[in-house]
Amino acid sequence: MKNEKLQQILKSALEDIAASQTSEDIANCRNKYLAKKSELSGMSSLIGTLPPEERKDFGAEVFQTKSEITRLIEEKSKELQNKELEAKLAKETIDISLPGRELNPGSRNPFYIVKDEMIDIFLGMGFEVADGPEVETDKFNFELLNIPQDHPARDMQDTFYINDTELLRTHTSPVQAHTMEKAAGKPIRIICPGKTYRRDDDDATHSHQFAQIEGLVVDKDINIGHLKATLELFAKRMFGEKREIRLRSSYFPFTEPSVEVDITCANCGGKGCNMCKGTGYIEILGGGMVHPNVLKMNGYDPEQYSGFAFGIGIERVAILRYGIDDIRKFYQNDVRFLHQFKKKA
Ligand code: DAH
Repeated sequence: MKNEKLQQILKSALEDIAASQTSEDIANCRNKYLAKKSELSGMSSLIGTLPPEERKDFGAEVFQTKSEITRLIEEKSKELQNKELEAKLAKETIDISLPGRELNPGSRNPFYIVKDEMIDIFLGMGFEVADGPEVETDKFNFELLNIPQDHPARDMQDTFYINDTELLRTHTSPVQAHTMEKAAGKPIRIICPGKTYRRDDDDATHSHQFAQIEGLVVDKDINIGHLKATLELFAKRMFGEKREIRLRSSYFPFTEPSVEVDITCANCGGKGCNMCKGTGYIEILGGGMVHPNVLKMNGYDPEQYSGFAFGIGIERVAILRYGIDDIRKFYQNDVRFLHQFKKKA
């Protein structure tokens, strides 16, 4: 090659290409040596200005220089691209030898597991689910249930008062009155699961908020045998076929006669142990025959209609079912507690 200028361009290009470290550097080289405004392009445009005898050689030299630079730039460009790709892949490799992260699916709170089971058992016996407000009036929470103002039975159910006449319901029993009002003299067979409140100091066995399932049947010729059969079936379905129940006479203002219902202790089978305090039985619920005053106040003629009612603490059933030692565990959402109730895969 004779043209000095072309030799200089080639030399400088070789140096720049060799010094290129990144694809950006090589793109700069391409721009510097091959773009329209580059020196080499300037040289190409000179070809036409030369006398014909010089044109061929000079043209060939320009062409050679250009293709040499182009080839080197392409080569280097590929090399750098490969290098960069390798570096990127090395950085992004996934270490497949790492153990995967275990999925940690949640579990249902045992309260809800038991609540749904209880509802299912009663639905299977033909009960329907009724509902009522948690903020109740004094009239429904007490008066329509035969607990007038200043009745001593109110003392056991101190609660959170909204004002003089409204309060957080102390039991699900007011739903009895709401249902009778709506049913307006027709037969009734309902349960009502729901939250209830009392002013209690929380400890292992007391909570200011808890839940009950209320039951109410009103029809002609309902007697205490129906109550007993219903609760016996419930106890056996919930706690096992071997369980027996026992009715003990008790007092509730809205039932007459009133009973407390015990089941035989699962721990000792009825012989007597620590769990049942030596009695062989564990109390699970209260119930009775609907008091004639309650029927009358809520639009039913006690001469024609009779009924039975019961109230079961949901947490109490769950505690017995799973051997839980503290009612507060239902509400604290401690995963160490909750995960014990995971469904087995
Ligand atoms: N309401 C009562 C309580 O919370 C439980 C109860 C007892 C409900 C007897 C009833 C019943 O329906 O007949 O202590």
